[in-house]
Amino acid sequence: MPAPARPRPATPAATTTTAVAYDRYGPPDVLAVTQVPMPVPGPDDVVLAVEAVAVSRAETAFRAGDPPLARLATGLRRPRNRVLGGDVGGRVVAVGERVIRVQRGDRVVAQTGIAMGGYARHVRVPAASVVPVPDGVGTHEAVALVEGGSTALPFLRDHAHVRPGTRLLVHGAAGAVGAAAVQLAAHLGADVTGVCGPDHVALVRSLGAATVVDRTVTPVERVRGTFDVVLDAVGASSFRRCRHLLAPRGLYLTTVPSAGILVRTALRPLARGRTAAIAFTGLRPAADKASDAVHLLGLAADGAVRGVVDRTWPLEEAAAAHAYVDAGHKAGAVLLLP
Ligand SMILES: NC(=O)c1ccc[n+]([C@@H]2O[C@H](COP(=O)([O-])OP(=O)(O)OC[C@H]3O[C@@H](n4cnc5c(N)ncnc54)[C@H](OP(=O)(O)O)[C@@H]3O)[C@@H](O)[C@H]2O)c1
Repeated sequence: MPAPARPRPATPAATTTTAVAYDRYGPPDVLAVTQVPMPVPGPDDVVLAVEAVAVSRAETAFRAGDPPLARLATGLRRPRNRVLGGDVGGRVVAVGERVIRVQRGDRVVAQTGIAMGGYARHVRVPAASVVPVPDGVGTHEAVALVEGGSTALPFLRDHAHVRPGTRLLVHGAAGAVGAAAVQLAAHLGADVTGVCGPDHVALVRSLGAATVVDRTVTPVERVRGTFDVVLDAVGASSFRRCRHLLAPRGLYLTTVPSAGILVRTALRPLARGRTAAIAFTGLRPAADKASDAVHLLGLAADGAVRGVVDRTWPLEEAAAAHAYVDAGHKAGAVLLLP
């Protein structure tokens, strides 16, 4: 039954807000500061004053229009959604007339999904995607944790079925997905080996990895040990290169698509022995993502996991943030602070 209507609260008085937009695919400097209409909530939406928005690897790929196949989703000739930004945190400043769960002033995170729009001082999001940030958890930290955790959690829980004693190797253990995966798996009682570059060894150890391997000394395929699950969080290896690391019924998971992994994923129900698969966590229903965000932020409030923030930039310096993410060596999240 629809919620009873109630008077629409005042929306912000300004008619425009500042955003960073792009009108063509290309290098980071295609991003430009601009004014866009102040978002107004639909009946089931809220508007946030954005305090932090993550700059994800997917977003820098969208900006570049590379791989070109991704343009089927983002726009063939030019970007369909001019303003990127999918993982946001901030204060609710306006709520739609049917929204009863969220109030003005609430400190929240939200995942905007394919609509994006978070590289802005204000963004409209569906109320169903909004999750309160618990006391004791910073908004920046919450955005960082939800960015990586929303992928790491379903990979570990729904695909790897990690439980106490699972022998797990995480490749790319310092990235947004990897840093969350190491912490969540350690919290679940797994025996975690993290593989990362030399600058991130101490960080990955502090996140709960029992063993940390510097990939510049020992490439992932030469790591010693046998694993129930190998999770390549950055898509820098392959099933073929890592197969020998797996236990007889072990599973290789990757976050990054290739023709080979798509075929293996499709054939997995028929496969025996060691198998491999990819999942696409961004395509899950908004309600599932919101429920996972509640879980992740609850763990953060309990001190079991934390959001890792590498660097922050003012919104106006989004191009610099994109160049840093493009370089491929961030630890945890890069955030824009509108
Ligand atoms: N399938 C899905 O549903 C899904 C969802 C979210 C993200 N993704 C994808 O997952 C990937 C990872 O995302 P992310 O946000 O975790 O990325 P990220 O934060 O940008 O990852 C950065 C990390 O990558 C590591 N790295 C760079 N080059 C490497 C190499 N050659 N070998 C091993 N590690 C290397 C770096 O580690 P060191 O500097 O320590 O070496 C760095 O810490 C992206 O491609 C993203 O699009 C997929």
